[in-house]
Amino acid sequence: MSRSIRTPLVAGNWKMNLDHIQAVDWMKSYSKSNNGWMERCKTNGMVTTPVELAVFPSFTSLGVISTMASKLAPGLGYGAQTISEPRSGAFTGDVSAGMLSALGCKYVILGHSEQRRYHPEDDGKIASKVKVVLDTGMQPIVCIGETKCGRDHGIGLDYALSQLADAVSLLSCDEMKKVIIAYEPVWAIGTGDTATIRQVESALSDIRDFVNADFGADVACAVRILYGGSVTPVNAASLIKAHDVDGFLIGGASLDPIKYAKIYHRVAENAVKRDPRPVAHDRVQQSFDSSDLSWQDWNAATALAGHREDTPYWRGQLALMAYRTVGFKYLEQKAVERAMTGLDASGVVTNCANHVASLDPDLLRDEIWSERLEIIGRFMILVEHGEVRGVDSVPEWLVEIDETLSQDEKYRKLVEARADWSARQAYGEIADDGMPFDLFCRVYKAGYMADDADTRNRHWRQRGVDKRVQPWRTV
Ligand code: PGA
Repeated sequence: MSRSIRTPLVAGNWKMNLDHIQAVDWMKSYSKSNNGWMERCKTNGMVTTPVELAVFPSFTSLGVISTMASKLAPGLGYGAQTISEPRSGAFTGDVSAGMLSALGCKYVILGHSEQRRYHPEDDGKIASKVKVVLDTGMQPIVCIGETKCGRDHGIGLDYALSQLADAVSLLSCDEMKKVIIAYEPVWAIGTGDTATIRQVESALSDIRDFVNADFGADVACAVRILYGGSVTPVNAASLIKAHDVDGFLIGGASLDPIKYAKIYHRVAENAVKRDPRPVAHDRVQQSFDSSDLSWQDWNAATALAGHREDTPYWRGQLALMAYRTVGFKYLEQKAVERAMTGLDASGVVTNCANHVASLDPDLLRDEIWSERLEIIGRFMILVEHGEVRGVDSVPEWLVEIDETLSQDEKYRKLVEARADWSARQAYGEIADDGMPFDLFCRVYKAGYMADDADTRNRHWRQRGVDKRVQPWRTV
């Protein structure tokens, strides 16, 4: 697979800090500190990597930054922390993409967890804002990331990938290449609790795999993925060396011009020296180990097939489903088998597990990608036959086709599966209440199973099942 060279981006998100007078001071000290570093690089003959730089002040400070940047820091780009969806009109208090682009903004941050939390910047809105930003000639920085509670309960990266799938659902491949993704685990933002290198590498490489499954390898190689969450001058050097990290979205540390400059310098000094990739086995295994469904289930699913329109959005959802359904271990094992069969003339693979570490990580990784794509392809055939109506319905559908279960058992399992899904959704929405997940689920599911017949019936009807015609339960 070809590797494109991605210029690292160091983006400073000032949030609601620094008025236009403070912004002037910021620019002066940033420029001074930067000039000093450039002098030192010149004197010592230091080779550095070109880095793209940007700050994201509040709307009121953008004007002064645009004027001063050209004089004091020509390489410093700037952008806005959000935009309004409409292009113009009677929307009191809103700022449009066109206005920002006219001011020389190159980027717009979208879907920051604080916008999602304090304003209704939901996935649907973000998708159309991403389009508006691109149409206006700027680049969106799309923020995704899971909460602490999500991570603790194993729905971390799936959640972030769903956010991404929604945010880029309206884009063509060419548009997607211009999108910058910022993976910001919510638990690491402003907490001083940076994700470990391993967590960052694992998440970013999965995000890139996901882009690959959704838009193809060319786009996956071109898209920049930033890490955000308690980045400082101290951890920047090691984080930028992590594989797949194309820069940072920095909050707190970017308010201090000297710290922001230092982070830039650490990136410029270290981005050239990439450490070799750790094997895929170590990097991402953890995320997928917890897959619930077995390969037998998957076989049962693939035995049936159908017809459905192939859109990028749908492919994205299928990529997620493929992750959830077969689990990473399965993908890895198949990838090793395939790679070893290619290498070994006899075509016989004896012990896959022992080969994982000895394979070239890039080869292994490409095989895993192919394996995922194949599974997605098979899954689409299944969906096309109308046997699976949506990715969330797969576990339930597998129960429906299980001939070993009696009608009563099927009914109970289906309701349980639905109650479980519903409890997870509900807990995600009220995560701040601090109620332990297990307790919440127990109470919620008991209520759901006992009382909420209406909800359940609605669910069946949505899925095209009329319980009166096809009663599983013979009460
Ligand atoms: P932080 O914020 O660097 O202060 O953790 C990151 C962000 O919110 O983008």
